[in-house]
Amino acid sequence: MGREKWSSTTGFILASIGSAVGIGNIWRFPYIVGSNGGGAFLIPYLISVFLFGLPLMVLEFAIGRRTGTSVVAAFQSIRKRFSVAGFAVVAIVSLILSYYLVITSWVLAYACFFTFGRPMEFGAFTDSYLPLAFFLLSGLAVFATVRSGVREGIEKVARYLIPILVVILLVLVAFSLTEPGAPDGIRFYLSPDYSTLADPAVWTAAFGQAFFSLSVGMGVMLTYGSYLEKGNLFRSASVIAVADMLIAILAGFMIFPLVFTAGLDPAAGVNLAFVTLPSVFTEIRFGMVLGALFFAMLFAAALTSAVSMLEVPVATVMDSYGYPRRRATLLVFAVIMLLGLPSALSYTALELDLFGIPFLDLSDYVFGTVGLIVAGLIMSIVGGWFMDRARICGEIGGCGWQQRVYMVLIRYCVPAVLLITLVGSFLRVAG
Ligand code: PHE
Repeated sequence: MGREKWSSTTGFILASIGSAVGIGNIWRFPYIVGSNGGGAFLIPYLISVFLFGLPLMVLEFAIGRRTGTSVVAAFQSIRKRFSVAGFAVVAIVSLILSYYLVITSWVLAYACFFTFGRPMEFGAFTDSYLPLAFFLLSGLAVFATVRSGVREGIEKVARYLIPILVVILLVLVAFSLTEPGAPDGIRFYLSPDYSTLADPAVWTAAFGQAFFSLSVGMGVMLTYGSYLEKGNLFRSASVIAVADMLIAILAGFMIFPLVFTAGLDPAAGVNLAFVTLPSVFTEIRFGMVLGALFFAMLFAAALTSAVSMLEVPVATVMDSYGYPRRRATLLVFAVIMLLGLPSALSYTALELDLFGIPFLDLSDYVFGTVGLIVAGLIMSIVGGWFMDRARICGEIGGCGWQQRVYMVLIRYCVPAVLLITLVGSFLRVAG
C-alpha cells in the first residue's frame, strides 16, 4: 500500500495550522507578551518567527517530502547512524505530548463545566480525581483522530475545527472590545516598553515561544511534510506562520479586556487560563456562554496540536517497524498515557511531585523547554549540515541566492539562536 497523502495543499496547510495553533497561542502568548514589555515584545517575536522559526519549518517540510518518510527513517536515510538522533526527537515529542495532554484535559473539563453552567474552582478540581477521567477522555479523542488516518482523521478534524475556532475567536474578540475594561486591557497588552528590548531574557522568551508556537524542531512538520506531494514550501510555511501569529495576537485582544473588566490581575502568568479566566467568566455578563465558547475553542486548538504530536511516534512505528496504523496508534497511545500518568496525578488529590515540584511542571521544564530546544538543534544540524544540499535545493525551488541566504540561516543562525535560548533557559532556573 502506498503512503497516505493529504487530499490537497489546503488540507495540508489546515492540518499544519492545527498543529501550530494550540494552547501556546491562546493562553501562553498573551501572558508572555503582557509580562515581557507589552507591544515591544512583538519586535523580537516577529524576528524569531520569520528569521528562525519559518526557515526551520521549511527545512522540516523539505526533509519530509524528499525522503517520503517519518523522522527516524528520514534521519537514517541522511546518515545511517543518525537513527539514534531521530529516536531522541521522537522521544522528546512523545514526552511533551504526555503532559500537553494533561493540560488539554483540563481545558476539556472547563469546557464541560461552563457548558453545564457549573464552573468548578481549579483548586477543588485538582483536589479530586476528576482530572484523571478527563485525561482519559481527551486521550481517547486524540487517539481516535490519529487512528482514522491522515486524510480521514487528521485532515478532516482540522478542516472542521480550524474554521470554527477562528469564528469563535472573532466573536469573543468583538464582545471583549465592547466591554468597559477594553481600553485598559489593550493598554496593558500592547503599550510598548522598549527598555525591555535590552534584556536578553526577553529575547530568549521570544525565541522559545516562536519555536513552540510554530511546532517546529520536533519532527511534527517533517512528518506532515512526508504526506505532501507538491507545492511551494515557502508559501505554505508563510501562510501557516502568519495564521499562527494572527491567532495569537487576537487571543490577547479577547483576554485582557475581559480580565480588566472583571478587575482581576492580568499578570497572573500560568494561572491566567484556569484560575483568572474562570473567575472572569463567573463575573461578567453572559459569562457562562462566553466561558463555554472560550474553552471549546481552546480545546479545538489543543486537540489538533496533540494530534500532530501523536502522529510523530505513530508514523515512526509504522515506517520503521512496519506496523499497520491501527496497531501502531494503539501501542503508542498506551505508552503515552502511561508516561502522562505522573503528570496527570500531580494535579489531583495525590499531588505527585519530585523534589517538591509537581511532576507536570517538571516535565514542562525538562521536555517542553529544554527538550524542545535540544530537538530543534538536532533537527537543524542533521538537516542543515548533513542532508545533501542539492536535495534541499530541489525541494525549495533551486539553488539561487535566496536559497544560499536560506542555507546560512539554517546552518548558522538557527542553531546559534537555539543555543542561546538553551543557555537562557538554564539561567532562568539558576536565577
Ligand atoms: N504549537 C503548539 C501550541 O502552540 C504546541 C506544539 C508543540 C504542537 C510542538 C506540536 C509540537 O500549543
